[in-house]
Amino acid sequence: MKTKAALLWGLGQKWEVEEIDLDPPGHGEVLVKLTASGLCHSDEHLVTGDLPIPLPVVGGHEGAGTIVEIGEGVDDLEIDDPVVLTFLPSCGRCSYCARGITNLCDLGAALMMGPQLDGTYRFHARGEDVGQMCLLGTFSEYTVVPVASVVKVDKGTALDKAALIGCGVTTGYGSAVRSAEVKAGDTVVVLGAGGIGMNAIQGARIAGARYIVAVDPVEYKRKRAREFGATHVAPSADAAWKVVSELTRGQLADSCIMTTDVAEGAYTGSALALVGKRGKVIITAIGHPEETTITASLLEMTLYEKQIRGALYGSSNAQHDVPRLLELYNTGQLKLDELITREYRLEDINDGYEDMREGRNIRGLIRY
Ligand SMILES: NC(=O)c1ccc[n+]([C@@H]2O[C@H](COP(=O)([O-])OP(=O)(O)OC[C@H]3O[C@@H](n4cnc5c(N)ncnc54)[C@H](O)[C@@H]3O)[C@@H](O)[C@H]2O)c1
Ligand SMILES: [Zn+2]
Ligand SMILES: [Zn+2]
Repeated sequence: MKTKAALLWGLGQKWEVEEIDLDPPGHGEVLVKLTASGLCHSDEHLVTGDLPIPLPVVGGHEGAGTIVEIGEGVDDLEIDDPVVLTFLPSCGRCSYCARGITNLCDLGAALMMGPQLDGTYRFHARGEDVGQMCLLGTFSEYTVVPVASVVKVDKGTALDKAALIGCGVTTGYGSAVRSAEVKAGDTVVVLGAGGIGMNAIQGARIAGARYIVAVDPVEYKRKRAREFGATHVAPSADAAWKVVSELTRGQLADSCIMTTDVAEGAYTGSALALVGKRGKVIITAIGHPEETTITASLLEMTLYEKQIRGALYGSSNAQHDVPRLLELYNTGQLKLDELITREYRLEDINDGYEDMREGRNIRGLIRY
């Protein structure tokens, strides 16, 4: 079949929207008609090369839609089922899935490759095979994905809002609730109040944090952060240190979650300085692949038992957490509508990324 999709053909180029070919679903796969896709910063990393995957690729890894065709060997999904696509597949059988650490499923290795799990491609354009961002490619009206990437949700779910749970909401919420293990009464710093950071703020609020300090150089982000639960804001990590030190009488924060546009080595030192004894620094933002140096006080790490921990998908378990987050939305505890700052047609995707780079969006959304 034909579908309209946004493709990246080379580093530093713009997204190109064109009509391309899409194969029917193979064994263990389904064809999904997308309702909406979020514009996560990770697709921008494809453009800059910070996430080095083979090109061309159909971008997008934060989406939701409806199943329209089912491949062989799929027996637990039906046509018309509403689904959230999860950017991390889980097989349910590998050693990590068996332990419930589904965000680290062995299938994750396929994320940086391009083709589907069997090594063949579903999208084709201009005579070439085209990869899928995170096995998904949600910048397309239709896509074929493995069942390992699908979470079935209740009929009637607002799929446009649910799209954001495919990456940003789950990653941010999980970074606070699961990776940082925020407890009632904690003081939490969120470094970078964008699409992921706002959800780390929401996670910290729902977990019962006493103080949540949002740090962002952009005034609009600081203003909006209060809506999601920030009790204090600061324009820089240095300014935040003064705020946190005063609030905690020098004990400093219990955790600092790094959700900046890019993870820089230097930010890690600032983040470690913001947390106190047993404090955790959570690295959620994606760093440059060639950057291997961080500067931080090793003495403080030992004497104060500080920790640095990476967080992939907020250490979440999609089959459990996606429906749970929708329930939190339905009970009014998790804000989703407020995350969507602007909506775009697929044809205007480059405007959406321009707005993100310029700090105008919490999240941009493509509605199909
Ligand atoms: N670990 C994961 O599983 C995972 C999943 C999704 C996204 N990510 C990554 O998370 C990061 C954030 O993504 P996003 O979609 O929220 O991006 P975004 O562009 O919406 O937000 C980034 C925010 O960081 C702010 N910022 C920039 N420099 C800063 C600084 N020095 N101090 C404080 N704030 C600063 C920006 O103003 C912006 O508000 C990206 O690197 C993305 O690739 C990781
Ligand atoms: Zn993402
Ligand atoms: Zn697995």
